[in-house]
Amino acid sequence: MDKWVGKRVVVVSNRLPVVLRKNREEWVVDPGAGGLVTALSPVLRSQGGLWIGWTGCKEEIGSEKLRHILEPVSRRSGFQIIGVQLEELEIEGYYHGFSNSVLWPLFHDLETKCSFSPHFWELYLQVNHKFAKIVAENTRPEDLIWVNDYQLIPLAESFKKIGVKRQCAFFLHIPFPPPDVFMKLPWRVAIMEELQQYTFLCFQTHRDRKNFINSMKILYPSSHIEGRGMLVSLNTGIHQMKIGNLPASIDYKAFCDLSKRKKVVDRALKVRQAAGGRHLFLGVDRLDYTKGVPEKLRAFSRALEKYSTLQDKIMLLQVLVPSREGIYEYRSLREEIEELVRVVNRRFSTDIWTPITYQYTSVSQEELAALYHATDTALVTSLKDGMNLVCKEYCACHSSNGGSLILSEFAGAACQMRKGALLVNPYDVEGVADTIHYAVIMSLCERKSRMTILKNNLRKHDVYWWGEKFLLGALGDF
Ligand code: F6P
Repeated sequence: MDKWVGKRVVVVSNRLPVVLRKNREEWVVDPGAGGLVTALSPVLRSQGGLWIGWTGCKEEIGSEKLRHILEPVSRRSGFQIIGVQLEELEIEGYYHGFSNSVLWPLFHDLETKCSFSPHFWELYLQVNHKFAKIVAENTRPEDLIWVNDYQLIPLAESFKKIGVKRQCAFFLHIPFPPPDVFMKLPWRVAIMEELQQYTFLCFQTHRDRKNFINSMKILYPSSHIEGRGMLVSLNTGIHQMKIGNLPASIDYKAFCDLSKRKKVVDRALKVRQAAGGRHLFLGVDRLDYTKGVPEKLRAFSRALEKYSTLQDKIMLLQVLVPSREGIYEYRSLREEIEELVRVVNRRFSTDIWTPITYQYTSVSQEELAALYHATDTALVTSLKDGMNLVCKEYCACHSSNGGSLILSEFAGAACQMRKGALLVNPYDVEGVADTIHYAVIMSLCERKSRMTILKNNLRKHDVYWWGEKFLLGALGDF
């Protein structure tokens, strides 16, 4: 992607591409994880610029020391990194509270999991205000501020409140819910007002964009859409903004190349050997109730029960990446998943075969690539997902000679990958079980042709395509 001459791009997001951790007296810089980091890192690396976000820790670090810790990381990354420090109370109210106990469940259609506490809302605004001040201090009026995700919706409005003028564009990485869900938010008008402060607002899919526009039309009956296609204009009578939808993606080539490295190929071979010729299913999910992991385990168990020929012939490798351990819901979900794994393994295991191998851990990109490369079918059963980049990484790391993808129809990626993937409704245990069986008996020819379709699509619509389109939308036209 070409650099945008004269326009510095400043990415702002809750997470940085790194997380700071104190180990005894030493500060350790770990790589950050998650879809947002996967998508934005290569774009900013190719573009150069600035990335501002939370350090990921609660300990106070002097600002000089913080700059010193982040300097070598910035040099290696190809863009400058500036850390925002948050106190424990702020993390509680803004991050665990409003972001992840209100907006996260609500925007994933799980309103019964929301804790609509006014205290969370106050801290959400307060922290956004803090972010705005730090961004203002480190940027110039001619910069383009690319704000990311639900944690920072009020940022553009916060600039106005502190009298700072910046051009701000916003990308929502998670879904936008349908109006009957969104309307339950006690701060619905405030959130919509804040979103209107951006000159460009971009969603992952047409579904999300339509949901947003439908809520706007209810709250602002005189608002109307001008234009058609990927990029339209929304006029509310007071504000005019551009609205688009673009599927976030991965660095396709980098994942392809990684999967061909000797170390990765050797590790993949070991995984295959350990499977003893069985059909390997792979699940890689962040620990989150939106990912449908219990649903996946139940369907896997049902497949073994319904199709007894699959017993001793298939295995599921399930990796669960730790996340948001400070929230009760997440801790209890982990217990539920681990109990389900025990139940299925107790029921079906034999002396020579254990159906589910489960790991609760973060995995390096190399290990991930090896797992993608080694396994026969990726199993993605999100109940709702903004995009889901795991399924894209899986296809990039797999040769077109085989490998299949079972994908939830409620993941944003399903819009783009419906032709090559086997789509499932994760709530339908029988349907997922049947699809698991089908993935095993599918002909090589069908598998090849599906994987070729998926790979061709992703090669074209990679993360650089996404980043370039977003910046074009923010600065002019697609
Ligand atoms: O867009 C969703 C997201 O922000 C992604 O970065 C990632 O999937 C996840 O949420 C990370 O969550 P957290 O930053 O709370 O660990």
